[in-house]
Amino acid sequence: MDKLIIEGGVKLKGTIPVSGSKNAALPILIACLLAQGTVRLTNVPRLRDIFTTLKLLNILGCETTFEDNTVTARVTGLKPEAPYELVKTMRASVLCLGPLLGLLHEAKVALPGGCAIGARPVDLHLKALERMGARFILDSGYIHGICGGLIGARIVFDFPTVGGTENLLMAASVAKGCTILENCAREPEVVDLANFLNACGARICGAGTSVIQVEGVRQLSACEYRVMPDRIEAGTYLVAGAITDGELKLVDCPLDELDALVSKLREMNVLVERQEDGTVLVRRGGELLGVDVTTQPHPGFPTDMQAQLMALMCVASGSGSIQEKIFENRFMHVSELGRMGARINLKDRTAMVRGVPQLVGAPVMASDLRASASLVLAGLVAQGTTEVARIYHLDRGYERMEEKLSAVGARIRREKE
Ligand code: EPZ
Repeated sequence: MDKLIIEGGVKLKGTIPVSGSKNAALPILIACLLAQGTVRLTNVPRLRDIFTTLKLLNILGCETTFEDNTVTARVTGLKPEAPYELVKTMRASVLCLGPLLGLLHEAKVALPGGCAIGARPVDLHLKALERMGARFILDSGYIHGICGGLIGARIVFDFPTVGGTENLLMAASVAKGCTILENCAREPEVVDLANFLNACGARICGAGTSVIQVEGVRQLSACEYRVMPDRIEAGTYLVAGAITDGELKLVDCPLDELDALVSKLREMNVLVERQEDGTVLVRRGGELLGVDVTTQPHPGFPTDMQAQLMALMCVASGSGSIQEKIFENRFMHVSELGRMGARINLKDRTAMVRGVPQLVGAPVMASDLRASASLVLAGLVAQGTTEVARIYHLDRGYERMEEKLSAVGARIRREKE
């Protein structure tokens, strides 16, 4: 296993390119199962989860290539089974339920286990697909689904689930008749998936709002599509510029998809401005102030930026609080930040953060993707050396992170543990 060694205290200066979005690319790759012909996707980030998804597509009968940041995908003979040894490494595999039921009228997908941040059930996906005529049995850890062909229906999600909305968008695209999805997730990655499906000939309207209408079509055809930039990666580097009291310019930063984060950063006295040349500049506007945050479904503050903002709050002059309302166990980074001198008290799902003048480098352990990013950010500002172990978590969602940070002055290197 690899670890990152960081010598803190450098004010980062320079330009960072934002990569394609992991959370848009994953559902879009799985949606390739629906298209006839060869799909060509550009701006696909080279991440562990992407390679895992390509493996899943191959197992399901879809040939793929991946050169630089371009993927081609062509279905040669669809198969209905997604095996446990693959699904257990990436929960998003459950998104293949929609396409398999839509086209093959059957699916055998391993029930994704929980993960560090929560139980992460898929009951809302199954309930919605049952409304469209699917029937499921759970047998030895697998979800077996069958249907006589999905039929359009009116579905109201109990919670605006991102994965549930994405699964149903794919299923409804090739169902018979019209589907109305209500209380949908409004995340930009859902919109990117809908845009991809429409480029393949689907008839989806309302993506990005809580009501989406889908007119099923018989067949989707291949297209060429550029995946949107990764707003969470971009947000992470905005925090990197602020926490090190440096000055960073982000290229291809989807600022319009980051309103909730940017307004909190501005509340903390961080300047975030779109430049003439289209890049986004971030730097401190003076003393960092404490702030109160509650994570919400989009357009509220994104849970995927909670750990990263907490690192910044640890070195602010005032106090602040973070309420995590999306996942039940997304504070694994708190104890690790505490090892670096952070002052954070947890009560239920709220973290009270009191800023300290200085964090101190220490050996810490990554537990999940965004917690790892939070520890790297803390290491960049801490005095001395921080070792972040188990960074395979980080490699799931950040393309060439140590390279991008070194290019703007960070003293960071990867070593074998
Ligand atoms: C997506 O996960 C993202 N993953 C997550 O990003 C992100 O944190 C999450 O959306 C929320 O924005 C991908 O897009 C691959 P949900 P997903 O369904 O689809 C509960 C990262 O760091 N729920 O909106 O799994 C669930 O337990 C990852 O990049 C049910 O109860 O999120 C959770 O508490 C982490 N039943 C809440 O809803 C269901 O059937 C949000 O889940 C589905 C969800």
